[in-house]
Amino acid sequence: MILESPLSKMVIHLLSWQAIAIVGLLANPCICREIATQIQGIELDTIQQFTSLLLSTQMLSEVAEDGAISEQTDIILAQWEFHDLLFHSRSRSGRHANPVGGTYRFLGQIAPLPALKPRTWNKSITLYKPDLENLKTSDISFTQVLESRKSIGEHGEMPITAQQLGEFLYRCARIRNLLQTEKGELLSRPYPSGGAMYELELYPVVNRCQDILPGLYYYQLQAHELCCISSETEAVEALLKGASMAMGKQEIPQVLIVITARFQRLAWKYESIAYALMLKHVGALYQTMYLVATAMNLAPCGIGTGDSDLFAKAAGCNYYAETSVGEFALGSGT
Ligand SMILES: Cc1cc2nc3c(=O)[nH]c(=O)nc-3n(C[C@H](O)[C@H](O)[C@H](O)COP(=O)(O)O)c2cc1C
Repeated sequence: MILESPLSKMVIHLLSWQAIAIVGLLANPCICREIATQIQGIELDTIQQFTSLLLSTQMLSEVAEDGAISEQTDIILAQWEFHDLLFHSRSRSGRHANPVGGTYRFLGQIAPLPALKPRTWNKSITLYKPDLENLKTSDISFTQVLESRKSIGEHGEMPITAQQLGEFLYRCARIRNLLQTEKGELLSRPYPSGGAMYELELYPVVNRCQDILPGLYYYQLQAHELCCISSETEAVEALLKGASMAMGKQEIPQVLIVITARFQRLAWKYESIAYALMLKHVGALYQTMYLVATAMNLAPCGIGTGDSDLFAKAAGCNYYAETSVGEFALGSGT
């Protein structure tokens, strides 16, 4: 058993049952003398030395007369949730001695995941591909896009069209290139991604879209098509409802784009930072989606909460291999 804390730079290995028993008793405020009466065969002096080690390494907090500890009274620490601070300290350098970055720790042991998700669903809809050369001259200027970008929760009366959805997905998330390397496959897509690993996948949940029936779809990058996973099931409705609640709206978004990660694409290569890196990619993709939607006069809105368990069930994914890590509402402009 080991003791670690995001407040500490130390790791303490508990090698004896007495040490583990002392730590167990310290779950409640107590003094060394009380511990000595509860654990047989251990000197008070040893307990004092051990608790003093725990205190000096910030594994232990002194409890004030009123029962409060500094994690509650310090307004800076009080606002950190335990898991957030642990994630912050362990995914950044400085507070641990673990390997950081592209260490390829599974090279030679586990085969890397292919860059493109193997085809799972057969029923598909071919999507419209825009002419990028035309768009280079007809789009509004970059500064206009950047300065008029905003989150829009209200959608137009006429739903988004299949052509617009096709153009949007093509401009944000298509595959530009696939590169074979000695350490697996890399991709190029319109948004940036650490190490060109590209672990993110898109699943449009369609509520109202001209020419596409409601349901859950998978965006197949390679063929630029939508694979139909299910029609409008209860789970699909719950995903859409969750998004409208997150936006504080009664109205259900016309389309909800669920972003998933195939976690092992990154974890196979990166150590300490894989999950943090993935969240950064979600941010890069959100901004690309905002900008493309603005250029296309669509209504975009990033969403901060979503049910990953529900999504894994709806799409038939293994929660630990691939599930949702972000959601983005999209509809026609008003
Ligand atoms: C990561 C992220 C999560 C967001 N989550 C929500 C959300 O759950 N509900 C919502 O209504 N807006 C959400 N938004 C939109 C923000 O509220 C919006 O970007 C912010 O108010 C600034 O407004 P603007 O985008 O119009 O400039 C989110 C935006 C981002 C980037």
